[in-house]
Amino acid sequence: MGEPPPDEPIDLAPDSEIPAPALPGTVMTADTAERLHERLAADLIAQALNCVHQFGDYHLALSGGGTPMPFYERLMTDPNYRLMPWRRTHLWIVDERRVPFEDEKNNYRHIHEIIVDHSDIPAAQVHPILAMEEDAPARYERALRESLGWRERGQDRLDFVLLGMGDNGHTASLFPQTTVLDERVRWVSTCEGPTVTPPPRVTMTYPLINAARFVGVLVTGANKAAMIERVATGKDDYHALPIKGIHPAAGELRWYLDRAACGDRTPVDPGAHPGGPRTKAPPAA
Ligand code: 6PG
Repeated sequence: MGEPPPDEPIDLAPDSEIPAPALPGTVMTADTAERLHERLAADLIAQALNCVHQFGDYHLALSGGGTPMPFYERLMTDPNYRLMPWRRTHLWIVDERRVPFEDEKNNYRHIHEIIVDHSDIPAAQVHPILAMEEDAPARYERALRESLGWRERGQDRLDFVLLGMGDNGHTASLFPQTTVLDERVRWVSTCEGPTVTPPPRVTMTYPLINAARFVGVLVTGANKAAMIERVATGKDDYHALPIKGIHPAAGELRWYLDRAACGDRTPVDPGAHPGGPRTKAPPAA
């Protein structure tokens, strides 16, 4: 095997064959969560450098939950990732539980401990959701609009949104059968009701997330495999499985799945490029 032609993307150390589920957008797979984190870090930093070059700043929105925490730790401790331009980054929170900062369930608490405390990001560029305030959604939306308003029209959107997926198909704090799923105007809203894992939440909505330049969905572990399979092959709509409402209108959607989350399955498409990116046309919304 010779050198790849120069215009071909070089897949960094491809993993052994992993059948990628037929999800909308592109699907990155890796044998382990650690290998997957390397792929995600490469994309997140490449987008950051590109945006800083183009616009002078980078608007990054991060999710909470258990899955991304080891990734955040790696991002902050691996010397390979020192290139990340934190000084030019605005850090946003995708969703927040309505609990005080010191509560274990507060997303920002963890993101602060892992990232903010260990980066040189200017305090004014860190944007926690003040979830205990009654008008938290309106305040957060105002902060987003003010901050993104410095960009020229069309570029006034989030650059990178990192999402996860619950084993019930929720993403951000967009839970099944909640009214926020039909929000078409507001960027930030509340989410509560019988399907919401307590406590009530404040969350970015589809209009904001789907306007982003790049949306990454990080899903690891065998307990998510059945839902990944259902998202890829089932007929459910976004009311049943809110993750199915994620369709960046003028941006890129990329899934990051470890082998366990892909499940023990035969390839959906035998022509798929194992371990590398695979593009599928998004299904109708
Ligand atoms: C949160 C998230 C939420 C999360 C999923 C998956 O604050 O919890 O934003 O959408 O990504 O619930 O959570 P796990 O990673 O803990 O499985």
